[in-house]
Amino acid sequence: MKIFIDTANIEEIKKAGELGVLDGVTTNPTLISRENRGFTDILKDICRVVDGSISAEVISLDYEGMLREARSLSGIHKNIVIKIPLTKDGLRAVNTLAGEGVKSNVTLCFSPLQALLAAKAKAAYISPFIGRLDDIAHTGMDLVRRIRKIYDNYAFKTEIIVASIRHPVHVLEAAMAGADIATIPYKVIEQLIKHPLTDTGIKKFLEDWKKVPEPEIFKKAKTN
Ligand code: G3P
Repeated sequence: MKIFIDTANIEEIKKAGELGVLDGVTTNPTLISRENRGFTDILKDICRVVDGSISAEVISLDYEGMLREARSLSGIHKNIVIKIPLTKDGLRAVNTLAGEGVKSNVTLCFSPLQALLAAKAKAAYISPFIGRLDDIAHTGMDLVRRIRKIYDNYAFKTEIIVASIRHPVHVLEAAMAGADIATIPYKVIEQLIKHPLTDTGIKKFLEDWKKVPEPEIFKKAKTN
């Protein structure tokens, strides 16, 4: 499963990138609004830091407006993917952009049938929002499992990005469900690393190590 980071914050993106686990970035208007700087500057910075799929969302709701914004955004960098909401105009725009070789990430997906239509319209990615379904007492991950089944039944190439991830169990379940990608907030990426037994294990090893004379090779390494 590929790991994307769900943020527009360049410091978080750099820190996740340094871990060597990052395959891409997703943004949305809310995440952009938190950064207090220009959309284009943010996207250019992200493209400099990450060599992978970078989703940038259109704001227009009409087909022509979506296309206009999508063409401008895709001109910023070859890795920019256009995030488009799952509406009638959105599907039309996705299909037109696919014909021009521009990739779309269809966002705000809350049903398997919406996902089927996105794949038919030739979306490169579909983003089911699982946390927001959990918020209204549905099991968000069931949506991912259903989309996986439908896409496998018909060999659709559209990749499933599990979005609106709130905690580590969402990431585990996304991987178990065979999602192609999980887009994860930085805080949750950090939570994936941590395990209390890792921490206590390190502590014990270091305590025991105090009984061992410092090896010459370690002494030398310090002076190099
Ligand atoms: O990628 C979509 C994601 O940012 C939405 O997350 O937590 O606002 O539902 P959330």
